[in-house]
Amino acid sequence: MPVEWQPQSQQWHLYNGRLSVVLAVLESGSLGQLYLGPPLEPDRDYRHLARGPFAGYANRVGEPIRFELPTPDSGDYRLPALAVRHADGSQVLDLRYGTHRIATGKPPLAGLPSTYTEDAAEADTLEIDLVDAVSGLMATVRLTIFRDHAAIARSVTVRNDGSTPVRITTLMSASLDILDGGWELISLHGAWSRERHVVRAPLIPGRRVIESLRGSSSLEQSPFLALVRPSTTEDAGEAIGLSLVYSGDFLADAQVDQFSTVRLRLGLNPDSFQWVLEPGAAFTSPEAITVHSTVGLGAMSETFHRLFRTRLARGEWRDRSRPVLINNWEGTYFDFDEERLVAIATVARDLGVELFVLDDGWFGRRDSDDRSLGDWVVDTRKLPNGITGLAQRVTSLGIGFGIWIEPEMVSADSDLFRGHPDWAIGVPGRPRTESRQQLVLDMGRAEVVDYLYAALEAVLGSAPVSYVKWDMNRTMTETYGLALPPERQGEMRHRYILGLYELYSRLVERFPHILFESCSSGGGRFDAGMLAYAPQAWTSDDTDAMERLRIQWGTSLAFPVSSMGAHVSAVPNHQVARMTPLATRAAVAFFGAFGYELDPVAMGPDERAQVAAQIAWFKTHRETIQGGRFLRLQSPFEGDGNDTAWMCVTDDARHAVVGWYRELSRPVPGPRSVRLRGLDPATRYRVRVWPDVDDTLVRRNALVRGGDELMSAGLFLDDGARESAIRGDFQARLFELEAI
Ligand code: DGJ
Repeated sequence: MPVEWQPQSQQWHLYNGRLSVVLAVLESGSLGQLYLGPPLEPDRDYRHLARGPFAGYANRVGEPIRFELPTPDSGDYRLPALAVRHADGSQVLDLRYGTHRIATGKPPLAGLPSTYTEDAAEADTLEIDLVDAVSGLMATVRLTIFRDHAAIARSVTVRNDGSTPVRITTLMSASLDILDGGWELISLHGAWSRERHVVRAPLIPGRRVIESLRGSSSLEQSPFLALVRPSTTEDAGEAIGLSLVYSGDFLADAQVDQFSTVRLRLGLNPDSFQWVLEPGAAFTSPEAITVHSTVGLGAMSETFHRLFRTRLARGEWRDRSRPVLINNWEGTYFDFDEERLVAIATVARDLGVELFVLDDGWFGRRDSDDRSLGDWVVDTRKLPNGITGLAQRVTSLGIGFGIWIEPEMVSADSDLFRGHPDWAIGVPGRPRTESRQQLVLDMGRAEVVDYLYAALEAVLGSAPVSYVKWDMNRTMTETYGLALPPERQGEMRHRYILGLYELYSRLVERFPHILFESCSSGGGRFDAGMLAYAPQAWTSDDTDAMERLRIQWGTSLAFPVSSMGAHVSAVPNHQVARMTPLATRAAVAFFGAFGYELDPVAMGPDERAQVAAQIAWFKTHRETIQGGRFLRLQSPFEGDGNDTAWMCVTDDARHAVVGWYRELSRPVPGPRSVRLRGLDPATRYRVRVWPDVDDTLVRRNALVRGGDELMSAGLFLDDGARESAIRGDFQARLFELEAI
């Protein structure tokens, strides 16, 4: 099995033929990080890799510089992966190897989401105990290597075996010391309606920080980063990707020191996290996933996609095709009643939609977004027969019924807040900052989680609900837990996330047939932690097709297509007022958990016919798109960004769908081709174009092209139609490839 321990060299080698990680006990007794990279041969001594250019520690002259769990204030002046304050105020830790265990499989992390195995043979887990003899603190580094993925999962448990309390001030889930600084860093940056845009920049001496301090993983930054060589492309070169399986505040940073070595860290954000460990108590960090690729960013993303889709997501919906849904939000906002909703559901059903989702506004007196959050009781003015009556009418149409909730919030104008003002987070004696006229409930309190479970259990149990959209629309301020003593206030934000995970776990367990979709003002909590409970997430409130190209491209760096909620909406687009063709809107949204977010009752016969044809097309290709490999071809973040292309291909390379998009029409464009990937070079493919040039959604005449040619010479945009026939701005064309 792929964890090898060599007692004579005191070295561990984790290998699976896709990557290797080598650790060793150093002469000082501390745990050294020797190697992370392409696979190395087993049964060899790699201790000579325990070196670095640094020989400057006053008391550790000549020691290597790469540590698995660096600590502060003992000569390593870079930032630590574990820091504590002892009862005497000092923070020195001398962590030395104690013992280790190697076991098949992968243990769960109590209270935290994590990747898993279905069969113990899928992974091996190494746990190494490091002990600080003076304080009695023990840190256990836990590394899992997967048999089928070029990925390592890592978490750390800190236990206080001493006799006085210890305060953890930093605990990183991943910490990598890399010998050279010749890298570029890729992060995902954004804003509301502009999530996860790709930012790629060279590392320079000093520190580059990506973080959230908003109480959630955030719209602005993502708990993901990648190091790539300047020459790395989608299909060539080295890439190291890191993703945190966590939904709250995080820190990711890359520090380049005077020797151009890099320390890369990812974990809980030390600026908003502290944890007091009483004697005998333990604390476990969230899990970080490290992926290594020698063949480009595409392979790195594919490893994340497959691991997250099959061994992080779980439950009945993990492997199932996602229903084509219609959500009423942009179609009606708060202006609906039962008859209007049933009319929408009926038209949508006739066009092929499989699930109707009732968004915000069904509870309390929620006529606008300034009230009633927390009062999870149906508004009978709008829905006189309750959720039960509406859901029965919708499901009797032969489609599923889904509902929106925002459990973690409370409006100041709500019965819940009037009854329990102390449940909202705030500092006594100070005003609470409101945002979207709402406050955040203290999810760290058991009674709050219990109340929400009971309230939501009543709603979801009262009707045939098969889908839930779980929203979260504000960031955290005045962080203070009334139930916590002063010295534990630093635990508040992490306790919130633990409470959130507990509520999710209980509801997912109680309603295993429900498909959960997470949401936070769009994609403000699109992270690997959420995927363990909700296998899909609302990618962005921005449904404009051109904006979505960038958002979905960036999201795909770490997340699978099946996890990205993607809807066709009306024009002018509600976020950017752009007019894009209906066919283009669908051609972008097809590459996700596909649906519509408009009022189909207001559509004319032509548009309805187009939508019916779109849904029929999607159902034919859904398996290939949501269950196949997603490969990026032409980036909207490179060159002039005018063209974007991507594709999905089945594992057996028998079917593929290529999406090609053009933002602005340009005169005299010249021949355009894009090299496809993932095909079988020896296979000939029948190529069909969708939609045809007249935009009437009729399939064009079929062409035949070889896989070798499509991957080397490329697929030509004017195959099947003259390129000049693609007129106007915001155009899309899809190619279906079928092996002959
Ligand atoms: C924010 C979400 O992102 C939207 O899709 C919608 O559900 C609104 N909240 C409802 O308030």
